[in-house]
Amino acid sequence: MHDENALKQAKKLVAAAKKISALTGAGISVDSGIPDFRSEGGIWERFDPHEYGTYDAFLNDPSKFWTMGRELAKVMLKAKPNPAHIALAKLEQTGKLLGVITQNIDNLHQVAGNSNVIELHGSYLRAHCMECKTEYVGEEVHQRVADGEIPPRCEKCGGVLKSEAVLFGEPMPEDPMARAVEICNDTDLMLVIGTSLSVYPAAFLPQLAKNSGAKVILINLEGANRDDVADIILMGKASDLVPRLFGISE
Ligand code: APR
Repeated sequence: MHDENALKQAKKLVAAAKKISALTGAGISVDSGIPDFRSEGGIWERFDPHEYGTYDAFLNDPSKFWTMGRELAKVMLKAKPNPAHIALAKLEQTGKLLGVITQNIDNLHQVAGNSNVIELHGSYLRAHCMECKTEYVGEEVHQRVADGEIPPRCEKCGGVLKSEAVLFGEPMPEDPMARAVEICNDTDLMLVIGTSLSVYPAAFLPQLAKNSGAKVILINLEGANRDDVADIILMGKASDLVPRLFGISE
């Protein structure tokens, strides 16, 4: 349960800020029906990350990854933005939001209407051939996987297709990280929403913002790693707290 006084203090920081940023994780999409990774019943409890979530495991046996991909795509393809995503899109309309830095691959910030979304860990909406690099529309690939094609293969060369969701041990796309660092250097208030802050380098970004003089508000169902970086911690559901923080619903 969050503390009303903390919410009041957080609202003051939002009102005073001119350049707000958000760093989001899987927790913001839980109320859209997509499970997170590390909570009870989360994705890594059902699929051992060493077996299903590493780049080496993918190279070794891509069918495993795509078996998990089929499960996740089922929920992601029908998920809709919840009030937390929508509140961030409304914040952008006020001109005070520099951008949303997300670890999520579910595209829900874009569907909600945010235009500057920085995807640190890629997107499930894109895929490519591991051999000839031909690009594919993720939804079409996921449909083929749903129809039983595991692993999906390139129509041109027969190579295995890989979703552009970044796996453990796989290099992260460089451009999004550079843009995220720019935002951290420029922001005066960072909202850290629904992330356990356990995966680097994303987990270091709130500290980077703080080192540049920003205030940090953490919104999470429970404590996160490194939550000492936060000036204010709001505990509860993002779909409830984020709209209230911006005075969108009381
Ligand atoms: N509202 C707010 N927070 C929530 C909610 C909710 N409704 N539901 C869960 N949470 C919190 C959990 O308490 C947890 O601290 O969201 C956090 C989600 O943490 P993780 O499952 O670790 O997800 P995330 O931080 O996004 O993981 C980072 O790890 O496995 C990799 O690449 C994957 O991008 C992912 C990265």
